[in-house]
Amino acid sequence: MTKPESLPIRPRPIEVLRQATDACRECPLGARATQSVMGEGPLHAVLMVVGEQPGDKEDLAGRPFVGPAGRLFDRAAAELGWNRERLYVTNAVKHFKFELRGKRRMHKTPAQREIDACHHWLEAEIARVKPDAFLALGATAARALLQRPVAVMRERGQWHEDAAGRRVLVTLHPSALLRGDPAQREAAWTAWLKDLSAASGLLLP
Ligand code: URA
Repeated sequence: MTKPESLPIRPRPIEVLRQATDACRECPLGARATQSVMGEGPLHAVLMVVGEQPGDKEDLAGRPFVGPAGRLFDRAAAELGWNRERLYVTNAVKHFKFELRGKRRMHKTPAQREIDACHHWLEAEIARVKPDAFLALGATAARALLQRPVAVMRERGQWHEDAAGRRVLVTLHPSALLRGDPAQREAAWTAWLKDLSAASGLLLP
């Protein structure tokens, strides 16, 4: 049974949530993934960074953003001088969705019904961490947080508010930069740093 929206969510420890998401079969993703991947970082983090879903590396490690996209985010955070100890990093969807190409597990974008099915886990995580603000990396995260379709290219680099007044900064997912036109890479990197710098006031030591 789903919880009525108006009831506050009882905060549960992250390890309890990790076990519960690991056992979750509310959508088909859990049965194929190695394990669920919960977020990492301090409770009461200043900024909760939300990605789409774990990738291949994250699925195997059981940790968020440890693959190429995570390394790019780490580079940006370092370049901006952000204090990583104030960040909590997680995903909108807790299991890796993939299709097999030969032996390779290729990332597949989660369907809206899978994002919706996972939404209560994200809310449970938010209830536990209680961050001051959010950084949505890409359209899946932005939509999960703001509960509306988000045109990332139009809305990037700006703070938005959800219905509950939570502040969400929207930008591209780092994978978009990794996949982007190599000739545009420098410009895309500079524009991404500019988007992210809107949160620097929260994160500079
Ligand atoms: N991409 C994401 O959105 N999240 C991860 O944890 C890794 C890659």
